[in-house]
Amino acid sequence: MSKDTRDRSMAKKLYIKTYGCQMNVYDSARMADVLAPLGYVPADVPEDADMIILNTCHVREKAAEKVFSELGRLRPLKALRSEQGERMILAVAGCTAQAEGAEIVARAPYVDIVLGPQTYHRLPEMVAQAARAGGHVLDTDFPAEAKFDYLPETAPPQGVSAFLSVQEGCDKFCTFCVVPYTRGAEFSRPAGAILAEARRLVAQGAREITLLGQNVNAYRGAAADGAGAWGLGRLIRALAETPRLRRLRYTTSHPRDVDDELVAAHRDVPELMPFLHLPVQSGSDRVLHAMNRRHTADDYRRVIERLRDARGDIAFSSDFIVGFPGESDADFARTLDLAREIGYAQAFSFKYSPRPGTPAALMPEQVPEPVKAERLAVLQALLTEQQQRFNAASLGREMPVLFEKRGRHPGQLVGRSPYLQAVHAAAPERLIGTLAPVRLVRVERNSLAGELMPRGEEVLA
Ligand code: SAH
Ligand code: SF4
Ligand code: F3S
Repeated sequence: MSKDTRDRSMAKKLYIKTYGCQMNVYDSARMADVLAPLGYVPADVPEDADMIILNTCHVREKAAEKVFSELGRLRPLKALRSEQGERMILAVAGCTAQAEGAEIVARAPYVDIVLGPQTYHRLPEMVAQAARAGGHVLDTDFPAEAKFDYLPETAPPQGVSAFLSVQEGCDKFCTFCVVPYTRGAEFSRPAGAILAEARRLVAQGAREITLLGQNVNAYRGAAADGAGAWGLGRLIRALAETPRLRRLRYTTSHPRDVDDELVAAHRDVPELMPFLHLPVQSGSDRVLHAMNRRHTADDYRRVIERLRDARGDIAFSSDFIVGFPGESDADFARTLDLAREIGYAQAFSFKYSPRPGTPAALMPEQVPEPVKAERLAVLQALLTEQQQRFNAASLGREMPVLFEKRGRHPGQLVGRSPYLQAVHAAAPERLIGTLAPVRLVRVERNSLAGELMPRGEEVLA
């Protein structure tokens, strides 16, 4: 919208741009929640906004660089508003803010607020402070109080498929990873608070909840029945009792923390979807050791086996890093072997990116860029082929699809299969928010085409 058409009498507008993982997506929604009482409503484009928040990711160099280039683009926008005698508040939140707060203030002094992921409940204070003082506010503490205790009870609906953060932080210290530094130590929310949030989400229309945590299966929160602590498996059982909640998922898990209780939940809880993101990073024990993953490739194989025994139709996804310092051709060949053996439904793979302050960045034998690029291409070709094979094998099958919203074409709805495949089918709008049987008939570019089974009409309203 141009400056002339902007309606200045309207409520203050907030634009949040989110990078990185689902935890950041969740956090962005919570930042909007805490700012709502101050009169901030969502803006569709940054040009309309009175406040812009970049919620940043620091996990790879590219992700972190994006922040500075985006700030460069926003600077003239802020200057223009200031020429019009208006103040636009520019805030940088998230993991890059946590890791490089001082550098952001130094390199981009026009930024008003820099806040880490643990302090967003204090955002209203920071906004007031920034507005008053006109200087920067830098708040990247890890406060002892849990931010979750300070979040408003009411929040706008997230839709049919909602995120719920149950655990935050990481104590694993993989040698390549910044997350333990940007998100701090592991913290698990009490089960009672999670159950209450789940009930609220369902009351607002959610039928699927994805439990989030940097290391979600390390969850160990105060029990809802007052007796000790619950692990993730126990929490999932309790959540599955929530009336009208049809599906549960959780991400991201660590292979070390898949305990018997969690495996049993996959066996016994039909709401728990048979699809698990279980990152392995590498198939070489030497590399896994240098990464401080604290498991071997065989340990990982055994975890997969236990899960497959518990739930025959389970499928997996993973993260891989190629070109970790010291990774030889033979190490990389083991990664390919492991991927071939497991057969992923879907997976992410990355070139190792040295992150300042992490042990691996200082390791000798950094792998040259062209080698990383070549290995990535080989691995990605394999993973893409596996994904295509998985999708092709779904054709002709009937799967429950949770319809989430209208599709691109009239009369069409889109939703997800149990395996997170995007599916579209001709279906009446009243099926939004229901599980309907759909036969998958065609693989298209970004989704699968399906046909609603006649029974779909009467299913599970
Ligand atoms: N907690 C999750 C994921 C954290 S970050 C886990 O334990 O798996 C998401 C993914 O980014 C990681 O799984 C890893 O594959 C990738 N990643 C993290 N640091 C990286 C780095 N320095 N270079 C390349 N990829 C990295
Ligand atoms: Fe990073 Fe490892 Fe923790 Fe995952 S488990 S967040 S990769 S340190
Ligand atoms: Fe990125 Fe922070 Fe998530 S570094 S991946 S936004 S935890």
